[in-house]
Amino acid sequence: MQLLDGKYVSEKIKKEIAVDAGKILATRGRKPHLVAVLVGHDGGSETYVASKMRNCEAVGFKSSLVRYEDDVTEEELLIKVAELNADEDIDGIIVQLPLPKHIDPEKVTEKIDHRKDVDGFHPINLGRMQRNLPSFIPATPYGITMMLKEYKIETSGKHCVVVGRSNIVGSPMSILMARNTYPGNCTVTVCHSRTPDIKKFTLDADILIVAIGKKNFITADMVKDGVVVIDVGMNRETSTLTKSGYKLWGDVDFEGVSQKSSWITPVPGGVGLMTIIGLLKNTLASANKEVYP
Ligand code: GUN
Repeated sequence: MQLLDGKYVSEKIKKEIAVDAGKILATRGRKPHLVAVLVGHDGGSETYVASKMRNCEAVGFKSSLVRYEDDVTEEELLIKVAELNADEDIDGIIVQLPLPKHIDPEKVTEKIDHRKDVDGFHPINLGRMQRNLPSFIPATPYGITMMLKEYKIETSGKHCVVVGRSNIVGSPMSILMARNTYPGNCTVTVCHSRTPDIKKFTLDADILIVAIGKKNFITADMVKDGVVVIDVGMNRETSTLTKSGYKLWGDVDFEGVSQKSSWITPVPGGVGLMTIIGLLKNTLASANKEVYP
């Protein structure tokens, strides 16, 4: 078993990003600028957004946080997004999900200028990604592709099983792995909550990507020897074992599954760290007008 080490890969790429940000500052007298919009006080979202802001500063980006209480109206939020779209000092806009029930996330996502949509959630970016055209790629799937590249994991002709079909991870991941590029060229199976007998599919996976949000969902009896396992799980549980009072669990039973896998991502220290890199790379690309010249 070998580790797909998110800490190592993310630190390495962060250094490259910092160099590029330095060049932008030297030549154009400005920093790449990411704005995050956070609604309410969901514990997970607070943690993720704080980490995004911290990492921006660490690589020499400017970051701004726009906060609203849970009772903000959809209209107020859409007006703010329009304002951010028009602000020429802003390269990237993210609205942290989930949003309160009275706000339609699709409306908000479509309101973001696709040229600043560094989450890659806008239908224009999603469609362009599917066609293999320049686009912003959702941060977690993008981070996973960078990890597969770094460790030169063979993907062509492999059976990739994606467990989970969310807009944020499972669905875009399945598109990327089927594209005619590297990493990609896989035969892709998408399993989800309505799939009977998921084990039947996971047992055949050469590459298994799990984003289902259930602690230790994948166990050793569900995988074959030599499988490459990508665990996207971020299941937070209160714990007395850690300083923060929380412990993170993956969707994969690491102890059991790592006995059979050729490569596996740990949690924490795997995909979570790469997600930030995906977001930073998209923001940098936006500042350099690489996707939409
Ligand atoms: N919620 C969970 N993951 C993400 C993400 O990558 N972007 C946004 N905007 N919200 C999220």
